[in-house]
Amino acid sequence: MKRLTTALIALGLASTAAVAYADAHADAVKARMELMKTIGAQTKILGTNAKGDFDAEAVQAAATKLHEAAMMIPEAFEANETNDESEALPKIWEDFEGFTAKAEGLQEASMAAMDVTDAAALGAAMGDIGGACKACHSEYRAQK
Ligand code: HEC
Repeated sequence: MKRLTTALIALGLASTAAVAYADAHADAVKARMELMKTIGAQTKILGTNAKGDFDAEAVQAAATKLHEAAMMIPEAFEANETNDESEALPKIWEDFEGFTAKAEGLQEASMAAMDVTDAAALGAAMGDIGGACKACHSEYRAQK
């Protein structure tokens, strides 16, 4: 009986570990998708403000959040994990330095947007931000 219990515990632990592994796998992909969604949402706020409805405080808050998210990109993509839903290309992990450099492009562009004081300046900063998204997506994200 004691032996059986021990065996069951061992089995239980083994399957728990397998589940944890599968979760970690999915979590890494989900977490980086969430990060990209945050990046997308902040970029949208900046875009609305650039179109004329300029609110300096909202712009500064969105640019700051965008910059913070951009700082988190390399770490979010560090784990070489993928699943069927992911659009991440293997090139990210083959050329992680190049990928990190693209993240730095967005870090700089979002930093510049923190200091703008009118819609025209924000519009110009948005050009650089959009360029930074595109520069990375065109090389490291599967095109649909
Ligand atoms: C350093 C590279 C890099 C930069 C810079 C970058 N992205 Fe991404 N983005 C990716 C990759 C890679 C994916 C695919 C991730 C996946 O599916 O696993 C992605 C996915 C996305 C997604 C889809 C998320 C989902 O739910 O599947 C959105 C939205 C997005 N990016 C928006 C943006 C915007 C907006 C910018 C610029 C402000 C930006 N990204 C900048 C690399 C980048």
